Amino acid sequence: MKRASRGTDDLDALVTAVTSTSKYRPISPDLIRRVGARELAVRSNFKTAVKATKNKLHQVGGAYFEAKLDYVAMLTRLREASTSPDNFRQMCLNLMRLHASTRERLPILDEFYTITLTDLPDIRVVRDLACGLNPLARAWMPFGDAVEYVAYDIYADMMVFVSEFMAIMGMNGRAQVGDLLSRPPTEPADLILLLKTLPVLEQVEKGAAARLLDVIDGRYLLITFPARSLGGRSKGMVQNYDAQFRAWTKKRGWQIQRYEFATELAYFVET
Ligand SMILES: C[S@@+](CC[C@H](N)C(=O)[O-])C[C@H]1O[C@@H](n2cnc3c(N)ncnc32)[C@H](O)[C@@H]1O
Repeated sequence: MKRASRGTDDLDALVTAVTSTSKYRPISPDLIRRVGARELAVRSNFKTAVKATKNKLHQVGGAYFEAKLDYVAMLTRLREASTSPDNFRQMCLNLMRLHASTRERLPILDEFYTITLTDLPDIRVVRDLACGLNPLARAWMPFGDAVEYVAYDIYADMMVFVSEFMAIMGMNGRAQVGDLLSRPPTEPADLILLLKTLPVLEQVEKGAAARLLDVIDGRYLLITFPARSLGGRSKGMVQNYDAQFRAWTKKRGWQIQRYEFATELAYFVET
C-alpha cells in the first residue's frame, strides 16, 4: 500500500486540530485544507501553522459573528413570524443583524437593491456567492418569485439554516457549502451577487479575485465593497477599492454602473 507523504499527514493532522474546536468545525473542509496547506508551507512548526490557520479562518468568516448563532431558535422565530408578511420582514431584519456584514447593509436596504438592480431584464437564476445572511434580504430584491436563488458560503450550519429559511419563505432556491477559492461555481446564472466578498478572498490568496472573475459565468454581476472596515475605519477605502476594482476589470470589456452608498460601494456589471 502506498504510504501518505509527510505533507499529507501534517495537513490531515492540522485539519483535525482545527476542527476539534466547535467554532471552526462547520467551515468548508476545502477552505480549511487550502489555508492550512499554505500555513504549513510558511510556518516554522505545526503548532504555529494551526494557530495561523485559525486566525485566517476567523478573519474571513468568524469575525462577522459577535456570538455563536442559535440557528434552531432563529428558525423558530421565523416560523412564528411567518403568519404575517410584515412580521416576517421585521424578523428578517432582526436576524440579519446577527452577521456583521449583512447588518451593515440594513440602513440602506430599502434603496440598495431597487437602485442597483433597477431595469434588470427578466432573469431566472441568481447566485449569491459568499452570501452570509444576505438571502434573508430576498423580500427586498426586485425580482419575481419564480427566480431560482442559489446561495453559497463556507459555513455548513449557516447553509442548513438558509435552506430552512427558504423553505419557510416558500422561496425557489437552495443553499450549499462552497469554498469560492477551491470550487467556484461555474454554472451560468443571469445575476451573480458578489457582495463585499472579493477583498475577503484576497486576504487568503493574492490574485483570487481576478481568478474568480475569470471563471464565474453571469450575464449580470453585482459586485460590492465595504465603505468602512469591520472596526469602523473608512479612510481611503472607497478610493482604494475603486482602484482595485478598475484593475481587476480592466480589459474585460464590461459595461459598469457605479453606485456609492453610505456603507457600501457597488458596481452593477453587464458582462
Ligand atoms: C464580508 S462577508 C459578506 C457577506 C454577504 N455577501 C453580505 O454582503 O452580506 C464575507 C462572507 O464570505 C464568506 N467567505 C469567506 N471566505 C469564503 C470562501 N473562500 N468561499 C465562500 N465564502 C467565503 C464568509 O463566511 C462571509 O459570510
